[in-house]
Amino acid sequence: MLSKKRIPVRKHISATYASRAFTRPIPRYEIPEDGVGPDVAYQLIHDEMNLDGNPALNLASFVTTWMEPQAERLIMESLNKNLIDQEEYPQTGVIQARVVNMLARLFHAREQHEFVGTATVGSSEAIMLGLLAHKWSWRKRREGKGTSSPNLVVGADVHVVWEKFARYFDVELRVIPMEKGRYTLDVDRVREAVDENTICVGAVLGTTFTGQLDPVKELNDMLLELKGHRGLDIPIHVDAASGGFLVPFLYPELQWDFRLEQVKSINVSGHKYGLVYPGVGWLIFKDREYLPEDLIFYVNYLGSQEATYTLNFSRGSAMVVAQYYNLLRLGRRGYRAVAQSCLSNARYLAERLEEMGIFRLTHRDIRLPVVTFSSDEVDVYELSRRLRGRGWIVPAYNLPPNAQDVNILRVVVKENFSRDMADMLLSHMGETLKEMGRGKRGDGEIPRIGGQIHTKIC
Ligand SMILES: Cc1ncc(COP(=O)(O)O)c(C=O)c1O
Repeated sequence: MLSKKRIPVRKHISATYASRAFTRPIPRYEIPEDGVGPDVAYQLIHDEMNLDGNPALNLASFVTTWMEPQAERLIMESLNKNLIDQEEYPQTGVIQARVVNMLARLFHAREQHEFVGTATVGSSEAIMLGLLAHKWSWRKRREGKGTSSPNLVVGADVHVVWEKFARYFDVELRVIPMEKGRYTLDVDRVREAVDENTICVGAVLGTTFTGQLDPVKELNDMLLELKGHRGLDIPIHVDAASGGFLVPFLYPELQWDFRLEQVKSINVSGHKYGLVYPGVGWLIFKDREYLPEDLIFYVNYLGSQEATYTLNFSRGSAMVVAQYYNLLRLGRRGYRAVAQSCLSNARYLAERLEEMGIFRLTHRDIRLPVVTFSSDEVDVYELSRRLRGRGWIVPAYNLPPNAQDVNILRVVVKENFSRDMADMLLSHMGETLKEMGRGKRGDGEIPRIGGQIHTKIC
């Protein structure tokens, strides 16, 4: 969040190369009276951006940091088109619809159902919209029986956006805590938490904290049993922000999607393993019946009657086009190859980390390319800070209750993180640990990686 800045003692920007062209100071927190030439403005901002981390070394984020030049060309060509202007840019609208169809089918929506969906800015917007629809549907189910206290049941492994939804849209959040050693949803405890006011249960396919998969099939079976015995018909929304573009390719047999009766809506981030730059997510409903008509707005001021179900009206269309590019360019085989490569690099990294003898993996069954690990011997926060000094962005954090004493580091392995980069990270980690007085190995020796001893290159 950005707050008011006091006008500081140093009121003006001091640039590096751009300062060659300065004829007057440029204020930091006020709009300057006069502008500057485009080259100066460019250089000034370009210089400042050098202070950001290097996206290629950002192992913290799930979000895509590399796309092919052809995709970038399409992005540039679509930058000036507003996605909402479907009348003006009908083909962009057609492309959005094609992607919705592709994803609904990827998630096994049935042909006899009228599946619907929309592009969003990311999974956060998709989750908010999905849950709003469940709130409205629940209200309808409860007509005449009291609709004052809706609740939402989730595991503590959900992303913060679920908490945001509950607070922003006035729904009680019932959180099933984690336990040390169990960092996914406990289905037995969900059974105890749900009731007739539960708008839906959330499940995560690839948790933000450890990259693990919630047991969606088990959850579905339990809810079906409840439906049979107690007449409670509680839907599941699957947050497949990171897993939605991985699991269908890595584990096609795993049932987590619309094949399961209670799964009614799914979100996925196009900008994570959909391999698109930031700014696109997707929300898919199994059938139009789960998206209450009251929530769809029809506007005619763009030249024709257009249906919208989004939080924001205007938004860029470039990332939607880029998503379509990836789907055509890679196909299922290409997505599978990328997913398998990321996963094998993640498993490689995990094995080498374990071999260092200092770290403990939070779980050894790595199903998505996310490696999380803790240590009893080193301060993970200090290690994270020192790695940052070498350019690597590896976040350290603690897990939610009741596992709040577990402090971990997380590496999200993306397409650009090669085996070579894994070796370099391990090597830098070994050196950093030694600086911290925690090198387990002999003097001057760098940890054994990639099957060879790497000697120091000066
Ligand atoms: C499981 C999960 N859900 C939701 C989100 C939010 O997604 P977005 O950043 O696309 O809004 C994230 C982001 O990392 C996530 O990991």
